[in-house]
Order: sequence, then structure tokens, then C-alpha cells
Amino acid sequence: MTQDNRATFGSKIGVILASVGSAVGLGNIWRFPYETGQNGGAAFLLVYCLCVLLLGLPLMLTEFFIGRYSRKNTAGAFQVIAPGTKWNLLGYNGVIAAFLILGFYSVVAGWTLEYIYQSLSGALSGKTAEQFTQDFNLFNSGIFRPILWTFAFIALTHFIITSGVKSGIERSSKIMMPILFLILVILCIRSVTLPDASVGLKFLFHPDFGKITSSVVLSSMGQAFFSLSVGMGCLITYASYFGKNTNLQKTALSVTLLDTLVAILAGVIIFPAVFSFGIKPSAGPELVFITLPNVFQHLPLGGLWSFVFYVLLAIAALTSTISLHEVATAYILEEHHFTRKRAAFIVSAGVMFLGIISSLSFGVLKDFTIFGLTFFNFLDYVTAKIMLPFGGMLTCILVGWRVDRKILKAELTNKGTIPFYFFNIYAFILKYIAPVAIVLIFLNELGLFKWIEK
Ligand code: PHE
Repeated sequence: MTQDNRATFGSKIGVILASVGSAVGLGNIWRFPYETGQNGGAAFLLVYCLCVLLLGLPLMLTEFFIGRYSRKNTAGAFQVIAPGTKWNLLGYNGVIAAFLILGFYSVVAGWTLEYIYQSLSGALSGKTAEQFTQDFNLFNSGIFRPILWTFAFIALTHFIITSGVKSGIERSSKIMMPILFLILVILCIRSVTLPDASVGLKFLFHPDFGKITSSVVLSSMGQAFFSLSVGMGCLITYASYFGKNTNLQKTALSVTLLDTLVAILAGVIIFPAVFSFGIKPSAGPELVFITLPNVFQHLPLGGLWSFVFYVLLAIAALTSTISLHEVATAYILEEHHFTRKRAAFIVSAGVMFLGIISSLSFGVLKDFTIFGLTFFNFLDYVTAKIMLPFGGMLTCILVGWRVDRKILKAELTNKGTIPFYFFNIYAFILKYIAPVAIVLIFLNELGLFKWIEK
């Protein structure tokens, strides 16, 4: 495909919705609450917000720059930005991260389908808290059922990806994202009107600074990158479909704000409910799946609430899996000249393979560990806490140090037609603050500072 007839998104709202669709997903509604619950509540939220503002937002803008300027897939884009150098390896970091994330994300996405099914069949009512836990563990440690749902989810993603950019990604995001917001707001109102909702709100919004440890900081940073879909070229790929007139600054700001809003809304839905019914906030990855059905059944029309909630979760997951899948598909399609269908098939098959192992790591493969982590947890840890921050750091260094400021500014201001008041601050963050902060957070987690203090 030449630069000029490369596919683009058809409308302004489509651009924003597709990017929001990528950002808002299981990361916000499944991962954010359980990480918050395990990392001290409000303290985590505070560090998370700092990471979003100081690292996530500037990086998102940078990825938009790279994507629209190069109009290439992730791997090809770095060749345009730094031709003839090894920087293109950074693109591969993104393509591999896309595979690995899909490898565990699709499993959780599959669970949402099971829970939609259970909501409809009435299986989610009339149980005790222990039964919910037992039944969930029985389900996810099984062999065929979770794998089947993982397969169904990958097939759904595959179908949308093969329909192409405009008709597939854009149209589905346009319909799904507004529904998602509506449902979230309804659930929020339901949750904050529960008895003792204030305890949950306090847990989420009243920070205890003593809880900020090195691993809380690393987790917050990982969560910020994961949730905003930055650090692996996903938004580079999407921005390569942006039109000439897309306002990159406004888009980055809107996506960041909406993504953060959804995460906080998810927290506002989950924590008051968790405390109201005496459930542990630190339940872990199961939080959404074990505690909420329990909560829903104590509400009037519980089956309806749980159905609505899991549909919401599946929709959010789908708009994200589409974006992850597109990173790898666009790479194979453009760099290896495969047809869209074949490229997508290769990605789906690879992801299915990883998905099967991840899914089995809750059951028959639970003793197969890498660095002490199950396969599922390993994929999660390596991508969110290492590959994305690492990729993000190198992206900041590349653009901050190598790209001509005039080119950067021209692209971010649409050739000077829109102002960029904070350009110098942005460039400073890119060049110094972001790389240094990310390195320090890594070193801190590795225990370097404790070691120096000794
Ligand atoms: N941001 C998505 C979510 O929150 C996950 C994702 C990560 C998507 C990285 C694309 C790239 O669920």
C-alpha cells in the first residue's frame, strides 16, 4: 500500500472512540480494581494518577506523533523515524508484547463470556460466597470450557480484524463505546447508594502514604502503561490511520482522561460494593469474577445487573483485543506482504496457542512456573511491568533525543495550525523526566536503593 491510499479512520469521533476503545478494557475494569485492592487502595490510585500524567500522557502523544508521521505499522514506523539503525527492534518489542498480552487477556475475556452465559442461565443466583469461589475455581481450572470461551473470544476478534479498518474497528467502536459509558454510570449510581458505601469510597480516595512501597510504584506504573495501551506501539498503529487534520493533542488528552475516568468509575462500582458485603478488596484477579456475582445477587434484579456488567466487560475487552491484534496483523501484512486474512490468521493461531497454556495454568499446568510465576501471571508481569515501561522509555529517548524538534512540533501542531502551549514542558519530560523516572522505578524495584542504604 502506498502512503496516500493507506486506510484511514473516517471521522473525528471514530478516531477518538477507536483509541478510547483500545485504552479502555479489562485493564480498567478487571485489572485496575484488583491491583488497587492489593496495593493499598488510595495510595496506589495517587501514584497511578501521577504516572498517567507524567509518563502516560506524554508517551501517548509521542506514539501518535510516530504513527501519523510515519504512517506505518509499529515495526515499520521506527525505520522511518530512525532509518538504518537498530531502533526498529523497538517495534518488535511491541509486536511481541501484543502477542503475549493477547495470550492472557483473551483468557480473561473468555471468562466474561462464561459469566454472560451464567447470568442468562440463572446459574449466578442463590449461592453462598464460598460456592461462588468454588464454582469459579472449578470453572477456570477446567480444561475444555475456559479454552472454548478463549477460542470464541479470539474468533470474535479475528472476525472484526478481517473486516478491515473502517468497517471493522471504527464501526464497532462507535457503537460499543457509548453503550459502555452508559452502563458504567448506571452501575455507579447503584453501587454508591448501597449501605456503607462510604467505607469503599474512603478506601479508594483517602490515601495512606505509608503504603507507598517500591512494588506499589512499579505496579502503578505498569498499570498506567497497560491501561493507556502505551509502550508497545498499539497507538502508533492506530495513529497511522489518523487523518491529516486529526488534532493529536486533543485526542491524547481525551483518551487519557476518559481512560482514567473509566478506571475510577470501575473502582467506584466495585469498592463500595465489596465493603458493603464484607468481601476482601485484596481478592486478586478473581475480584470481579468471585465477589461481584455475590454482590449482584444481593441486589434487586441481580441477574439483570450481572448480565449487564459482564456484557460491558466483554465489550470493553473486545475493543482492546482488536487493537492488540491489529498491531501484530498490520506488522505481518505490511512487512511480510501477506493478505489481511492470512496475516490475521497467523496472529489468531499464535494467540490461541498461548491462550491455551495460560488457561491451563489455572489447572493442570499450575505447577509449571517461570521465575516462580504461573504462565498466566508471567505473561501479565513481563508485559505490564517490564516490556511496556521499557518500550515506553526507549520511545521517549528516541523521540526526545533523535527527532528534530521542528519536525516533532510541526506534526503535533498540524503544521502550525493549532497551538501547543506546553511544547517545551512536553519535550523536557520526553528527554529527561520520563526516561529517568522509569529507570529509577525499575532500579527501586530491584532493591538497588535498599542495597545502597545498607
Ligand atoms: N489498555 C487495554 C486495557 O486496559 C489493554 C491494552 C494494553 C491494549 C496494551 C492495547 C495495548 O484493557
